[in-house]
Amino acid sequence: MTMYGWLCENPTGADQLQWKPLQLEAPGAGQVRVAVRAASLNFPDLLTVENKYQIKPALPFVPGAEYAGVVEAVGPGVTQLAVGQHVAVIGASGGFGTHALTSASQCLPVPADMPFEHAAAFAFTYGTTHHALMDRAALKAGETVLVLGAAGGVGSSAIQVAKAAGARVIAGVSSEEKADFCRTLGADATLNYATEDVRERLKALTEGRGPDVVYDPVGGHLAEPVFRSIAWRGRYLVIGFAGGAIPALPWNLALLKGASVVGVFWGDYVRREAAAFAQALQQLMGWYQQGLITPPIDRVLPLRELPQAYALMASRAVKGKLVMRHDG
Ligand SMILES: NC(=O)c1ccc[n+]([C@@H]2O[C@H](COP(=O)([O-])OP(=O)(O)OC[C@H]3O[C@@H](n4cnc5c(N)ncnc54)[C@H](OP(=O)(O)O)[C@@H]3O)[C@@H](O)[C@H]2O)c1
Repeated sequence: MTMYGWLCENPTGADQLQWKPLQLEAPGAGQVRVAVRAASLNFPDLLTVENKYQIKPALPFVPGAEYAGVVEAVGPGVTQLAVGQHVAVIGASGGFGTHALTSASQCLPVPADMPFEHAAAFAFTYGTTHHALMDRAALKAGETVLVLGAAGGVGSSAIQVAKAAGARVIAGVSSEEKADFCRTLGADATLNYATEDVRERLKALTEGRGPDVVYDPVGGHLAEPVFRSIAWRGRYLVIGFAGGAIPALPWNLALLKGASVVGVFWGDYVRREAAAFAQALQQLMGWYQQGLITPPIDRVLPLRELPQAYALMASRAVKGKLVMRHDG
């Protein structure tokens, strides 16, 4: 029995991935086999195939950390899932193939009427953002949130979650096209950090107070001017470093604003605080069902076009999420 997948044998970049026939394996104890219908691309998928991510799957591996599909076989000891169940999966790898073996504990059952494209582009971004904004920053209605990289995967989810929580959102982006996109997602104002003076613009948009919460998946040279602009008792959420450089801040800035630098590590939060994550997911699914949050899908590509998707993400050309589709 054969399946197909994009195999990474040499983790030096997405151009090394090869579409290959692979053995279709039976699930072991505690595992299920999922017939993959959709998989989304997240920035860590880019880092993983370059051997730059903190989690390094054993070689060779099929990348794809977030996907959705149908359970088609269950291994010994699995009682919580049955064949035919629709699931979303968050793991380290496996999604960019026609089938994936995964631990049953990494599967989130999803309603049968949730499109696979949405199920495959939900928990990673919205889960990270819920943990960041609602839990780590304790965001309150009426506060102002500045989202950097706001047109990206986690950034676009932050616009929607902050709006669902009753906050005001300033979307920070690198182009006018991305600014327009963020306004369609509900952003109240935008900051083009490629062309505008960051500190002056934030001052003008907040009557001099600065944003209460900053959501930063970009890092690099933006961090310091933004931190200098943060409001009294501000919370600066360290989400990631898509810009490449890890910033260093003079600590006196935190003192002067009574502000906090708050780390966000969603993967470990899910492992360490499973009950809290389950509750967060329930709230997110409720918001999804009310139409308050919907994954903004830039485009759906056939799974065989994965290299094109990697190239789009690496060139900052994606607005929202890229989803790969496999129709079985
Ligand atoms: N802490 C956690 O638990 C956690 C969870 C999920 C993701 N993350 C991290 O969050 C970051 C964003 O992930 P994502 O999936 O949202 O990525 P994404 O969809 O590619 O979005 C990243 C955004 O960053 C901006 N950016 C600035 N410089 C860039 C560069 N040199 N290359 C690419 N993008 C650049 C881009 O917006 P502009 O062009 O508008 O600047 C882009 O829209 C990653 O570092 C990821 O590892 C962290």
